[in-house]
Amino acid sequence: MTEDTRQSPARTARIPIAWSWWLAPCALLLAGAGAVPTPSESQIDRGRAVFEQLWSVAPSAFGRWGRGPLSNGGACTDCHGNHDRGELPEDDGPVHAAVLQLSVPGVDAEGRPRPHPVYGRQIQHEGILGRVLPEGEVRVEWVTRDHRYPDDTTTTLRSPRVVLDRLAHGPIADDVMQSLRIAPALHGIGLLEAIPEALIVARAADGDGRVNRVPDGAGGWTLGRFGHKAGQADLRGQVLVAMHEDLGVTSTRFPAPNCSAVQAACLAEPAPAMPEAGDDMIDDLVAYLRQVSPPASSGREDRGARLFEVVGCASCHVPSWTWKGADGATRAISPYTDLLLHDLGAGLADGRPDLAAGPSEWRTAPLWGVGRATHLLHDGRARSPEEAILWHDGAAARARAQFESLDRADRAALLRFLASLR
Ligand code: HEC
Ligand code: HEC
Repeated sequence: MTEDTRQSPARTARIPIAWSWWLAPCALLLAGAGAVPTPSESQIDRGRAVFEQLWSVAPSAFGRWGRGPLSNGGACTDCHGNHDRGELPEDDGPVHAAVLQLSVPGVDAEGRPRPHPVYGRQIQHEGILGRVLPEGEVRVEWVTRDHRYPDDTTTTLRSPRVVLDRLAHGPIADDVMQSLRIAPALHGIGLLEAIPEALIVARAADGDGRVNRVPDGAGGWTLGRFGHKAGQADLRGQVLVAMHEDLGVTSTRFPAPNCSAVQAACLAEPAPAMPEAGDDMIDDLVAYLRQVSPPASSGREDRGARLFEVVGCASCHVPSWTWKGADGATRAISPYTDLLLHDLGAGLADGRPDLAAGPSEWRTAPLWGVGRATHLLHDGRARSPEEAILWHDGAAARARAQFESLDRADRAALLRFLASLR
């Protein structure tokens, strides 16, 4: 196989991000935004239309042509509906709003995890009816176990066992690394992009967490912030990969359809003469995502908020970030993350390195909005913040143990605080 057919290594210039202008619409923050340029209403409307666009396989009577040949969905909203996170089937069943990423040891030409020679970077569960077989079906079976607190209260934890069904090109070898990842919520995503890199890197230098380093396309490296292992530097990069891998839509960055060299039926589909999503469309989508507002509440429960600090949650889930924008105005947000990688231990490990992120390292999940979530942690296993906490181990083992040894009323207060982040 040649990896080039799968992921074209075309190098595009990185677009400098002016993160001073788009904060203006976000009521949460702003101490005195000046006269800074904002994306036009019409650009945001166009971007919203791209976000909600249903992509279809030509020549369909519905949607915009360009989907596939292989895909995991027909629209961004299939996995990020209402900007919320994805969900997994409650009973054992096929996965739709999460993806199974794959890689084999080593790195590709860009320094990223090496795609599987046949199935590529992720299993696409949709093909083209009668022409291109889906790569296979990803299913989860839930494995449960009881958890007992020091005070003998018990609760049940579950974790997914991934089962691959109907693989179109034969079985996947045992040594292929797999990572099941749920679609994250997108509320306030542009604000996470705006936190100055220097502030995040400074925290890592203090010894709390590590940065992921992402190839910048020009031979250098830049800070990773998006994806569960922080494998993408900015929204533009994330969106281009989503278009190509999740929807099968080509762009100037990824001009070739997402087939590997041995997928003959996929390769036999007519390749588009022009990128299916042009640069303007990508610009509009990114401008739209940058202004999606953060969750409204940054937490109410005073006692719970104090306990959150006391037991050590805040050392990774950094409550707030403040900085001065290019226009001199102060920005302040409360995302409860440091955007850094931490080793959370074997129970959560996917065993799959991703750039500088190790097999059991994850990006600190932002906790804003967590009060509304029902599928927590990178693979959506936790049904509540409480279950998510109980999976913390490794560098977070102490904070978890301190939470566990709180008395019942204090645990409830801390959980009420998390529930108020919505
Ligand atoms: C099949 C489901 C699916 C579809 C469709 C999908 N995504 Fe995602 N999205 C994911 C998953 C899974 C991740 C996490 C990826 C990772 O950890 O590497 C993600 C991550 C993201 C992130 C980064 C979030 C964060 O907190 O790091 C953004 C932004 C995003 N997607 C935008 C989009 C856009 C825009 C589209 C449409 C072009 C789209 N996605 C389509 C599943 C999907
Ligand atoms: C050493 C750093 C660290 C500490 C300390 C820590 N966490 Fe986390 N937390 C993480 C990381 C990393 C993740 C993401 C894990 C994953 O995606 O599987 C996470 C995920 C979570 C989630 C799931 C969020 C979501 O959106 O899926 C919750 C809830 C959570 N932490 C709460 C807490 C609480 C409460 C405490 C204190 C008792 C705490 N954490 C302490 C690093 C930490």
